[in-house]
Amino acid sequence: MAKVECIKAGVMEGLMLNDEGTVAECTGDTVFIVKNGVVITPKISDGALDGITRAVIFDLCERMNIDIIEDTITRYDVYTADEVFLTGTAAEVIPVVNIDDREIADAVPGPVYKQLLEGFREEAQNTGIAI
Ligand SMILES: Cc1ncc(COP(=O)(O)O)c(C=O)c1O
Repeated sequence: MAKVECIKAGVMEGLMLNDEGTVAECTGDTVFIVKNGVVITPKISDGALDGITRAVIFDLCERMNIDIIEDTITRYDVYTADEVFLTGTAAEVIPVVNIDDREIADAVPGPVYKQLLEGFREEAQNTGIAI
């Protein structure tokens, strides 16, 4: 139903909230924000899928010395993040620069996203996945 809403609104993805009104995930992707150099993603108990690509990002962050935590995230946190990106088997790792007609920071893919994308591509090459 959320995906249908996205299509009707003419947008590629939609943020889905849980019954507490905090961010759970997107319709087909895991959501990550970056604030002051720390990567933050909603907790599984907040409704995030325990996704394969999510686990790869945790692993990459650990290896690349990037701080990453699971936490409860509000829409305000997303709107005011330094960076926002999504992950999923289909999407891989994609930047988000505009949400609800609000620009995220400078509206360009951020440095932490770029670092993780590079790491993800290397990881995919090393494991023989063609991208
Ligand atoms: C609702 C939802 N959340 C997150 C994901 C991302 O999970 P994964 O990284 O395992 O593809 C998907 C993928 O299909 C999904 O449908």
